Amino acid sequence: MDGKSNLIHQNRTGHSSNPQHLFKHISKVSRADREQLNNNKAFTIWLTGLSASGKSTIANEVEAWMFSGQIHTYVLDGDNTRSGINKDLSFSDVDRAENIRRVAEICKLFNDAGVIAIAALISPFAKDRLMARNIIGNDDFIELFIDCSLHECINRDPKGLYKLALEGQINNFTGINSPYEPPQAPDLHLHTDFNSVDECVHLVKNYLINKMKFAENI
Ligand code: ADX
Repeated sequence: MDGKSNLIHQNRTGHSSNPQHLFKHISKVSRADREQLNNNKAFTIWLTGLSASGKSTIANEVEAWMFSGQIHTYVLDGDNTRSGINKDLSFSDVDRAENIRRVAEICKLFNDAGVIAIAALISPFAKDRLMARNIIGNDDFIELFIDCSLHECINRDPKGLYKLALEGQINNFTGINSPYEPPQAPDLHLHTDFNSVDECVHLVKNYLINKMKFAENI
């Protein structure tokens, strides 16, 4: 085999696996079987937006609504995944891409397990969100743009991080010294600076019920 495929699959530590030496195993139990057992379809809701825009709050409210309707869900929040599986990643552009890639792969596994994944990550770059969509699959990927002005996020600053970034104590902070590329065609565009959390959650529910024919009974 030529050296090229090895290079393509070279990982962050410089080691590589040869894809020609990997053999996919087919499960006896399918995703459709798991969805049937769970009594829900699985898909991924991907929330993108600035820090303090309200992604985690909305993700949690949507999960609570689904959970109360006995839907199987899991929230993947950037702050949490960065404390565990992604704790080796920084906020450089390259590491953000890897952060998104890993979380997207986890969402895909959750979906295969018949569980709705709700990912709340800044995911500031359009190309990385497209990568997530491609990993998860277009039909299973719903992009929610949690839109809140930078001015309002700085005002909220619940973690005090904008203050530190503005003082120059944090590098690559999204909105301050690292860019945020707003989605051009999100599946749903929410404005948390002038809509309440309840109003936003209501819009998400409506979207899922009308567009996805989801959980009309909960
Ligand atoms: S992402 O850009 O790679 O998608 P992610 O959502 O996982 O980011 O993590 C964002 C969280 O990390 C923020 O809510 C904030 O609490 C924290 N954080 C720490 N440093 C930074 C930084 N430089 N830029 C953005 N968020 C940061």
